[in-house]
Amino acid sequence: MKNWMKAIENRRSYYSINDKSPISDKEIKELIDFAVLHVPSAFNSQTARVVLLLNDHHKKLWNIVKEALRSHVPAEAFHETEAKIDNTFGAGHGTVLFFEDESVVEGLQKAFPSYSQNFPVWSQHTSAMHQFAIWTLLEANGFGASLQHYNPLIDAEVAKAWNINSKWKLVAQMPFGTPVNEPGPKEFQPLENRSIVFE
Ligand SMILES: Cc1cc2nc3c(=O)[nH]c(=O)nc-3n(C[C@H](O)[C@H](O)[C@H](O)COP(=O)(O)O)c2cc1C
Repeated sequence: MKNWMKAIENRRSYYSINDKSPISDKEIKELIDFAVLHVPSAFNSQTARVVLLLNDHHKKLWNIVKEALRSHVPAEAFHETEAKIDNTFGAGHGTVLFFEDESVVEGLQKAFPSYSQNFPVWSQHTSAMHQFAIWTLLEANGFGASLQHYNPLIDAEVAKAWNINSKWKLVAQMPFGTPVNEPGPKEFQPLENRSIVFE
């Protein structure tokens, strides 16, 4: 229990990371599989799809991001964007891609019309639970990770590069690696405004 609370507390957004890994790639895959098996989903729909990119695949993703940003950033500022990606996310050991399978969501909407509006929302909740579990498991195993949202800018290129099912919708990207330095102190808004008990 204490370890679980420590892992939650220590999980931060680590931008400064390198490509070293405190555990084997097989163990990283096992952590992800553990989360995919045990994290809950609405109606036990198991809509989450997770892709782990390592080595050249990780590098390829961050090249896709850079190319996607090239047309959105003024030409004279692009070298700064490129350096930022190369020195942060791209410098990591790997990236976890989080997708949600829209074919399952659509199936549930058809099967349970009265909940139709809820299923896309619950699908996002399900993805968020997977993101948090994997972020925290990476933390507990010595990694630093962050959560990025270059979707939908990169969706088409990602689908093409890894032959992703067209019904899988990209929700988030989580680059991770060994922390190079620690994030600054975290600011907390007053707990009494955010957590209430009636007893
Ligand atoms: C739903 C959600 C979306 C986020 N999106 C991004 C993002 O797109 N880019 C980013 O750098 N951080 C993103 N973050 C990270 C937050 O900015 C960060 O968790 C927050 O400032 C608290 O800092 P900490 O992670 O160091 O505890 C996101 C976090 C959450 C929970």
